[in-house]
Amino acid sequence: MAKVGIFGAGWVGVCTAVCFAELGHEVVVRDVVPEKVDALSHGQMPFHEADVPELLERNLERLSFTLDVDDVVGCDFLFVCVDTPPTYSGDADLSRVWTVVDELPELPGHPILVMKSTVPVGTGEKIRAGLDHRGLTHVGYASNPEFLAEGTAVRDFMRPDRIVVGAFDSADADAVASLYDKIDAPIVRSDVNSAEMIKLAANAALMTRISFINEIANVCEATGADVVKVAEGVGLDNRIGSKFLRAGIGYGGSCFPKDSLALKQLASNSGYHFQLLAAVIEVNELQKRRVIGKLSRHLGSLRGKTVALLGIAFKPDTDDMREAPSIVLASRLLAEGATVRAWDPVADVSKLPGSVERADTVLEAVTGADAAVIVTEWDELKGLATAEVRDAMRNPLIVDGRNVLDPAEARRAGFVYEGMGRPLAPNDVNVEA
Ligand code: UDX
Repeated sequence: MAKVGIFGAGWVGVCTAVCFAELGHEVVVRDVVPEKVDALSHGQMPFHEADVPELLERNLERLSFTLDVDDVVGCDFLFVCVDTPPTYSGDADLSRVWTVVDELPELPGHPILVMKSTVPVGTGEKIRAGLDHRGLTHVGYASNPEFLAEGTAVRDFMRPDRIVVGAFDSADADAVASLYDKIDAPIVRSDVNSAEMIKLAANAALMTRISFINEIANVCEATGADVVKVAEGVGLDNRIGSKFLRAGIGYGGSCFPKDSLALKQLASNSGYHFQLLAAVIEVNELQKRRVIGKLSRHLGSLRGKTVALLGIAFKPDTDDMREAPSIVLASRLLAEGATVRAWDPVADVSKLPGSVERADTVLEAVTGADAAVIVTEWDELKGLATAEVRDAMRNPLIVDGRNVLDPAEARRAGFVYEGMGRPLAPNDVNVEA
């Protein structure tokens, strides 16, 4: 079993740490925030992620958390799991990555620095040169991007579709791959540049699918087709596949928006205009705003109207609101003069901009509202179309931003229902006469 050092006790770092510990490795996590290190040392989680608390508790004896960079001395692997947020120009901010490289202490033996953070193509080559410049030629380097989605991180780690390892030296690649010996998954070995690009391209492909189906949804709306049926029929084609074809109010989160911008800027900086990706980003921006048009069509002016936002996390099973469509929606509604009330089972409503009212229950959120908007497809919202909710609302309008509800059932329950890319009038085949 190996000794693994991890820089960064953020979401990626902690998920990676507990999973490596679960595989039997000894793991030291180093962060610069004392409260985080202290909480984790006592088995307390700094964020909400399924299965991670159990793994943390179960493997505490193989895990340690520290502020002291010297505690990574003796590790066989040094994983970089720090943030790479977008800069003003949309490029990835690598300052935290460079801080890790600059702060590396004297390291005996042949440790390998492994990049898990998402970085622009070419970063590994620059870090290799930086290490050599610092006299750390004995330190290996590999790129081993993470493909963990929030809410399913542990499953994604333990049962990945593939593991990507890019290295300058094949012995380093072998060593990194051996960390995952207990995991049954294809290992893609490549050069460092290609490994970096695999991560960016995989995310771009997923975003392209979402913006594609969202545009199909918009055309469905204009022509009377139902995108849910269309996606089912399209997705059963083996060459296309059914995943990531859920139309809605667009993607958000800590990865997609920043990684798409970073790839777009990476291309631009290299003299290439990545037109398709630029369109994917723009379609996603516009998609978030379509809800406002739908509300106005039913309610006229939104000034003085009360709108309930149901779910504000960027997706279910997480409290993460980074780049969540709810933020744009809340701001647009407030700008239109509406009163906004929001409910979410875990995300913090006070993080929304402006004066959004917080509701503790779905019923409280919809009471007296002129419209309810499903923003995040939480399980709790699957049964929204009840007589109790209808009677509590001032106006029984549901705008289903995630196509969670059955339109026919919602209409039968007395709601005016609008989904994303679904027929506006009850002329769909599921509606009983
Ligand atoms: C994503 C990638 O899946 C992961 O591999 C990468 O490492 C980080 O980014 P995550 O941001 O956790 O993970 O969320 P994901 O489940 O992929 O969803 C991203 C966004 O796309 C969400 O806002 C979701 O609502 C949206 N989405 C997803 C759709 O709108 N339609 C879909 O069909 C699928």
